[in-house]
Order: sequence, then C-alpha cells, then structure tokens
Amino acid sequence: MALWGGRFQGAASEQFNAFNNSLPIDYRLAQQDIEGSIAWSVALQTVGVLTQTEQQTIADALTQLSSKVNQDPSALLQSDAEDIHSWVEMKLIEAVGDLGKKLHTGRSRNDQVATDLKLWCKQTIEHILSSIEIAIQALLVVAEREYATVLPGYTHLQRAQPVTFGHWCMAYVEMLERDASRLKDCQKRLNTCPLGCGALAGTAYLMDRTALAQSLGFDSPALNSLDAVSDRDHVIEMASAASIGMAHLSRMAEDLIFYNSGEAGFIEMSDTVTSGSSLMPQKKNPDACELIRGKSARVFGALTTLLTMMKGLPLAYNKDMQEDKEAIFDAMDTWIACLDMTTLVIEGIKVHASKTKLAAQQGYSNATELADYLVAKGVPFREAHHIVGQAVLQAIEHSLPLESLSLNEFKALHPAIEDDVYQSLSLEASLNIRNNLGGAAPAQVKQAVAAKWQSHLPS
Ligand code: ARG
Repeated sequence: MALWGGRFQGAASEQFNAFNNSLPIDYRLAQQDIEGSIAWSVALQTVGVLTQTEQQTIADALTQLSSKVNQDPSALLQSDAEDIHSWVEMKLIEAVGDLGKKLHTGRSRNDQVATDLKLWCKQTIEHILSSIEIAIQALLVVAEREYATVLPGYTHLQRAQPVTFGHWCMAYVEMLERDASRLKDCQKRLNTCPLGCGALAGTAYLMDRTALAQSLGFDSPALNSLDAVSDRDHVIEMASAASIGMAHLSRMAEDLIFYNSGEAGFIEMSDTVTSGSSLMPQKKNPDACELIRGKSARVFGALTTLLTMMKGLPLAYNKDMQEDKEAIFDAMDTWIACLDMTTLVIEGIKVHASKTKLAAQQGYSNATELADYLVAKGVPFREAHHIVGQAVLQAIEHSLPLESLSLNEFKALHPAIEDDVYQSLSLEASLNIRNNLGGAAPAQVKQAVAAKWQSHLPS
C-alpha cells in the first residue's frame, strides 16, 4: 500500500508504478532507514508524540526488522512498495499495528531520504578509505622490493630518463593518498543531519535537532530546511572524488598494460588476474587492468549524470533526485571493485629487471647527463644541449648508444670532454645523481618508502 492515497480517486497505472518505484535501487538503504527511524522515534518521544512504551515498542520492532533484513536481504525485493521508506513503514505497521502509523509524524520522505543517503555515504567512505589503504600497502611492498630496479622513465611515451620501478609505485602512492584525503574532506562537509527538516520548511514538533543529529553520528544538524532536503553536494563530491580516483587507477592500469606488453616485457602479471584467448593459445591478456581502465568511464558518467540532474532543479525536493542513487551506488561499487582489483594486480606483479634495464640503456636516456657533464665543465646549458643533440645524432647514425662514441669523437664535439665522461654516462650514475627529495635515485626511493610506512602500517 502506498503512503499516500487519500486525495486520489483513481489508481496509478502499473506502468507508472514500475516507472516511479525506487525500491529496486534504494533497498540498499534499508539499514540506514531503520536507524534513522529509530532515532526519529526517540525525538518524537521527547516532544510527547510517543510515550516511552510506544517508542520502545517501535524501536524493538525496527531492531528486529533490521536483523531480518540482515539475514535475508532478498525479502526486500519481493515487495511492490514504492520505496525503501514505504517498505520500512509498512513492515513496522505489520509488526506493531496502528502504533506504527504514528512514526511519520513531523517527518517527510524528503528529510528521510536525505538522511539515509548521507548515512550511507558516510559508511561507504569508510569502506573506500580502507580499500585505498590496502592498495597503498600493496604498492609499498612492491616499492620496497623494487626500489633500485631500473625502469625507463617516459615523457611522450619516449624514453626520457631512467627511474626505478619503486619510484613508479610511489608515484601512485601519492595519488592514492590524495584520493583518500579528498574523501575525508568530503566526509567533513557531509556531516550535517537533515532529519527534522520535514518536507522543506522544517518540523512543527520542537525537538532538539542537535541531540537527534548526534544520536545518528552526525556532527551537527543541517541549518536550513530548504537546503537540507535538496542538497546532494555530497553525492556529487563523492562521484567527483571517485572520478579522480578512477582516473588514477586507469592510468596505473594503462602503464601496467604497456609494461606487460610483448613489446616492453617489463613485467609479468599473475595468472590470477589475466585471461586467455579462445582462439590464440599463446595469449595471456591483462583483462583486469583493461577493465579497470574501461570502468573509469562509467564513474565519470555518474558524475556527469549527477551534475546534470541537479543543475536545473528549483528548490526544494524534486523527484529527479531519486536518480541520484543508481548513479552513486554504481560509481562507488565500481570504485571499490577497481581498488580491490588493483591491489590483486599489484600483489602479483613480477618485474623483469633485465628487460627494464636493457630498455633504460637504450633510447639515449643518458643524454641529459652528458649535458650536465658539460655544464660542470663550464659550458652554458643551452650550448651543452645543442652539442649533446649533435652527439645523439651521430650515435643514432651508427645505431649505437651515446657512450660508445670514442673520446676523440667526443672531443671533436667539445674539447672540454675528458675520459671521465664515460663514468657519468652510466645508468647507475644518472640514477644516483638524482638523490634529492622526490627524485628517482634508489637511496631516495628507499627513504621515501620508509617514510610512507610510518603512516601506512598494516593494522
Ligand atoms: N524515493 C524517493 C527518492 O529517492 C524518496 C523521496 C520521495 N519524496 C517524495 N516527496 N516523493 O528521492
């Protein structure tokens, strides 16, 4: 039975009901709706709408309902209730009779859904934070193991300067840390409770909204009823944080797909996260990473959905806002699944150090070192850059690395070049020299990993 109907003479069409009902999506808010309803029953008792016994009866029935939902969540979907709020109220009335009909006094589904969804967001943020933390720890383990493993660093996908595989891992640790901090920031801002704001104008029952907010774990009550029932900033913020987070996971996936390719051969992914081809027996495809990269698209889609859905809505509540849940549920489910899959991928990575080293030796990634060498001999950098460009050209003509030019050839390029040039062109030298904060020198990476472990100790 619907929660309304008194002013209607005809019944809604089946087609409309199927279109309008949100239970198939918002059933996921059952526990939050029950929690909010129990808190509301306490508030109603403080203003004399419910006696203490009545409140207790309602709270007990709702607590029982909560454990039933826990045991068998599928029962929820076998109902034709309009939404989760109607379902919980219906079940309460089934359990306690007419007393249950008092619960909705002074409350609207508008402040109710806003509260339920905020409670859900708060819990989901905690879940995502722990998935991010586990992914960070997986990266730190690999970074620690591979802190000195040479890896060609790229710009424009051209070999640029050598870095280490550990340094690569640590780049993503930075990104994941920012993702977590964005969520914590979002958590702070969404911590105000809409309950007690009624449909849009506030409630006529003068309860202590601060106590109500605190009983639900919020910092404080929302301060404007119009805003409280129609604010979905937190949903948009979470989708935005998710989009940035997914962009990071997608880039990581892309790097790994490339490193795993036959062309690069830098890593091998574990059999646990790869699949074969039905036709080509030799194939081992990086499906997990490709799906992470692909799924980022649906999270960006959710953000666009939410922004577009909200932008033209007049104050206060409009039914358009019911669409928020499908988008945010999917975005958060996807983000969590991709974070957890990233952890699995990272845990199973085998780095082929000989291949990464060989690739780093090729591609003239020590050219900057030669320029720096000339600078140390008093040549202005711009001039040194030009001279080294000529040296590279000469080496390319012979299909040889820079360090294979003879001393005479080097001297012909610039007389300041001495025998010690060869030492500064070695891979080790060009890595070790970048031993400053944030740099790729193994000593620096080792230090960075140790520093991060301080704040990411496994619990
Ligand atoms: N199912 C609705 C939603 O998700 C709940 C609020 C309905 N409020 C109303 N006045 N129709 O937005």
